[in-house]
Amino acid sequence: MPVQEKIRVLIVDDIAETRENIRRLLQFDPEIEVVGAAKSGKEAIDLSAQLKPDVVIMDINMPDMDGITATEAIRRKIPYAQVVILSVQSDAHYMQRAMRVGARDFLTKPPSIDELTAAIHHAGVTAHEERIRAAQALPPGVIPGAAGVPLTFQGKVIVVYSPKGGTGCTMIATNLALALQSPETPTALVDGNMLYGDVAIFFNEQVKNSVLDLTPRVEELDADVVKEVMIDHAASGLHILAAPPKPELAVKVISDQFAKLLQFMRQVYAFTIVDTASYLTDITQAALEVADLIVLVTTQDIPAIKNANTFLTMADATGIPRNRILFVMNRYDRRITIAPESVSKSLRQEIVAVIPFDERAVGNSINRGQPLFIENKAHLVCKSIMALAELTRNRVVKLEMEIEPMIKK
Ligand SMILES: Nc1ncnc2c1ncn2[C@@H]1O[C@H](COP(=O)(O)OP(=O)(O)OP(=O)(O)O)[C@@H](O)[C@H]1O
Ligand SMILES: [Mg+2]
Repeated sequence: MPVQEKIRVLIVDDIAETRENIRRLLQFDPEIEVVGAAKSGKEAIDLSAQLKPDVVIMDINMPDMDGITATEAIRRKIPYAQVVILSVQSDAHYMQRAMRVGARDFLTKPPSIDELTAAIHHAGVTAHEERIRAAQALPPGVIPGAAGVPLTFQGKVIVVYSPKGGTGCTMIATNLALALQSPETPTALVDGNMLYGDVAIFFNEQVKNSVLDLTPRVEELDADVVKEVMIDHAASGLHILAAPPKPELAVKVISDQFAKLLQFMRQVYAFTIVDTASYLTDITQAALEVADLIVLVTTQDIPAIKNANTFLTMADATGIPRNRILFVMNRYDRRITIAPESVSKSLRQEIVAVIPFDERAVGNSINRGQPLFIENKAHLVCKSIMALAELTRNRVVKLEMEIEPMIKK
C-alpha cells in the first residue's frame, strides 16, 4: 500500500464486546492503528473531532443516535474521514441511506478479518488522498483546460466594480454568478455594498444572516460555517452572502476582516463574485485588493467613461495589472454614437463584453426578484453575460497557467 502513515481507525459500537472483537481483529495489522473507541453516536462525533481518524467503523443501531446520523455529522466535520458501516441488517434501504450521507462501505456483522481489513485499507487510501487534497486547499474548481484536459484551480475572487453608481454592477454580478455556478465550479455571490446592498433583493430572498455573521469569526472559519451563513438559492445552487440588513450593523463590518473572509472563500468556492459600492469605501478597496479579476463596468455616458478612466489610472499607479481587469460596457444602445471600440481605444483597455440595453426585461426581473438568467437564459442580455462568463473562465485558466505575462506598469 502506497501510504507510509498508519491508518487511524475509530471503532463505534454500543456493545463493549463488539468493540473489543473488532480491536482484536485489527491488532496485528501493522498498517492499522486503532486510535479510539466510542460507545454512542454522540461520543463518536466528539471523538472524531478530537482524534481525526482516517476510518470510522460504525455500528448502525445505537441507543442515542443511529449510525447514519452520526456518519453524516462526522463527514461534515472531517470530510476526509471514511466511514465503514457495520450492521446486522444487510438491508438495501439502510445501505442506500448510509451511502447518501457519505458512508464509504458496508459490512455485515460479524465481518471476517479479511473483509474488515480490506475495507479499512481501501478506505484508508481514500482518506489519505482526501486529506492531502484538503491540506493543499485544492480544488474548488474544475474546468476544461487546453485540449479539453480538466484543470483544477484554486478558487478565484472576482470583484464587479463601477466607479459610477447605477451602471448595472449588481445586475451583472448576480447574473454572472449564475452563469458561473455549476457542480464543477461551485460559486458564491457576496454583497460587498454594506450600507445599500441589494443583492438579496435581486433574488427576492429574506436576509437572516449576513457578512457580519462571518467577519468577526474570520480567524476561525471552516467551510461548513461559511456555508451555514449563506443563502442557498435553490433554483441554481448558487450561495449568496447578503449585506447586513441594518445600517447600524453595516458600519460594524471591518475591512481587514472582510478581505480575509474573501481570501478564505477561495478555499470553498471556485468563484466568489463580489458586488461592490461605487464609492471607494474601505470595504470596496479591500475587495479590489483581494480580487483575482476585476469586472470594471461602464455605460455609454461620458461621466461613467471618465470615472472608468480615473479608475484605470489608479489601477496603473497601484500596480493592478491590466490583464486582471475585464472591462464591460452595460446598457449598450447602438443609437448612441459612443462606440465600445472608441472607448477601448481612448482608455487603452479593451471592452471585452457589451451588454445591451433592455429596460423592460432587466427592470422587470429586478422588480420581481427573479434574475434574468433564471427567467430567460436566451435573452440577449444573458447571452452577453454568458460570453463574459466564458471569458472569465478562460482568463482564470490563463492566469493559473501563467501563459499570459503580467502586464505590470
Ligand atoms: N442592460 C441593462 N438594460 C437596461 N437597464 C439596465 C441594464 N442593466 C441595469 N439596468 C438598470 O439600471 C439600474 C441600476 O442597475 P444596478 O442596480 O444593477 O446598478 P448598480 O451599479 O449596482 O447600482 P448602485 O450604484 O445603486 O449599486 C436598474 O434600474 C436596472 O434595471
Ligand atoms: Mg448595486
